[in-house]
Amino acid sequence: MILFNRGFMEKDDAIVDIEDRGYQFGDGVYEFIRVYDGVCFEMERHVQRLKLSALKIELALPYPLEDITRNLKQLVEKNGLLNGYIYAQITRGVAPRAHHFPGSASSVLVAYVQHAERPVEKTTHGIHAILTEDIRWKRCDIKSLNLLPNVLAKQLAKKHGCDEAIMHRGATVSEGSSSNVYMVEKNVIYTHPINNLILNGITRIGVLEMARENGFRVVEEAFTVNELLETEEVFITSTAMEICPVVQVDQTQIGSGQPGRVTRTLQQAFEHRIALNSGGN
Ligand code: PDD
Repeated sequence: MILFNRGFMEKDDAIVDIEDRGYQFGDGVYEFIRVYDGVCFEMERHVQRLKLSALKIELALPYPLEDITRNLKQLVEKNGLLNGYIYAQITRGVAPRAHHFPGSASSVLVAYVQHAERPVEKTTHGIHAILTEDIRWKRCDIKSLNLLPNVLAKQLAKKHGCDEAIMHRGATVSEGSSSNVYMVEKNVIYTHPINNLILNGITRIGVLEMARENGFRVVEEAFTVNELLETEEVFITSTAMEICPVVQVDQTQIGSGQPGRVTRTLQQAFEHRIALNSGGN
């Protein structure tokens, strides 16, 4: 079952209009939400970010956020989803093709679920990443449907046998193609500050809370590619990859080439949060 505006229907019965502005212009926003043991993880933060992304592009929500939240939870139930994701997107709707906002179109919400296991292998052993120039626009804070630079960066990583592309604007590391990036040096965790150049990751918010709870100092300041390559630990975070160690960047081994101690500590704290989440709805 999928969610189409307010209604639930079979996936095969849903019809996307070829003049939907999401399809033609990427004119819309989305969220990707984790479900653990049948319970949505960080649901409130995800829907608040969806609302904020919509606001930033002057996109009206198709109906109130509380109802959207309730429908997304129902979608999980209707599909009997235990472990996986919700993908939800809102587009500016259907109108004859013209760049400016249409006068009459109504926003369209589409959401569906994907069954998926947790990325245990990668979070246990770590991944390799490549470096690539960040060629995106200057509103990366908006979780918009326009993902072509991210798609190209991820494909380049795949071509090199890597799982993530770490992007940089000039010398400065911004974020991954679908993750936030951190380095650890002498028990201090560094990550790019929240501004228009990165997405305010929901996993990032939680990880920085857990870092502080565990007594680590957090410095939200941009760091350079050279600093990244010489640091003790690197990790990425995202809804899909959770907290994932990066043990090699391009040809450079990071630290000992094994997941680092601080990364491990944060992963343990994260497990605790997932366990707590599974207790409620
Ligand atoms: N992407 N930065 C970018 C560019 C991202 O696309 C993502 C997530 C993140 C991490 O955000 P969060 O912790 O809220 O998942 C950072 C999702 C997973 C995606 O597009 O599939």
